[in-house]
Amino acid sequence: MLASHVATAIYPGSFDPLTNGHLSIIHRGLTMFDHLIVAVLNNPRKQAMFTVEERKQFIRDAFPDARVEVDAFQGLLVHYTRRKGVHLILRGLRAVSDFEYEFQLANMNRKLDPDFETVFMMTGQDSFYISSQLVREVASLGGDVAELVPPNVFRALRVKFPNKNGG
Ligand code: PNS
Repeated sequence: MLASHVATAIYPGSFDPLTNGHLSIIHRGLTMFDHLIVAVLNNPRKQAMFTVEERKQFIRDAFPDARVEVDAFQGLLVHYTRRKGVHLILRGLRAVSDFEYEFQLANMNRKLDPDFETVFMMTGQDSFYISSQLVREVASLGGDVAELVPPNVFRALRVKFPNKNGG
């Protein structure tokens, strides 16, 4: 590796919303990479709970680290990575159930762009059961998600679902 080389990876996802599982991957990703671009998928075909701007802001607030850049992308991930000139993406793996989808995604992306590489990190033992989808469901039904998401996301969920979220 060249001395001046800065290792950058893109961490793509829906982040609707950011969870402690994502935070664990970002934290640990920063031990492997000098710079992480956290890229929020803007998918106009899918109704999200939080806007792209809100999702980006959650990440910025939770991670005020100069090595973390927060961005959004639309369309194919391989087009975005090519535009950025970064061909390495980081993904978290929770359980066997994630594997099949992630394996398909990684191989399809590599088919679309032979330079594309995916690095997987296992989520920590405290967050293997956390998903944005379950957080949305539990919060909307009045369950307490305080220990599953960072405080800024927790506050936003309380605003969205007043008198719920254990508050
Ligand atoms: O957090 P998620 O929802 O598991 O992230 C999935 C994501 C955003 C990585 C994936 O859906 C994606 O890359 N979407 C962009 C469209 C695309 O490139 N699709 C083909 C992938 S093979």
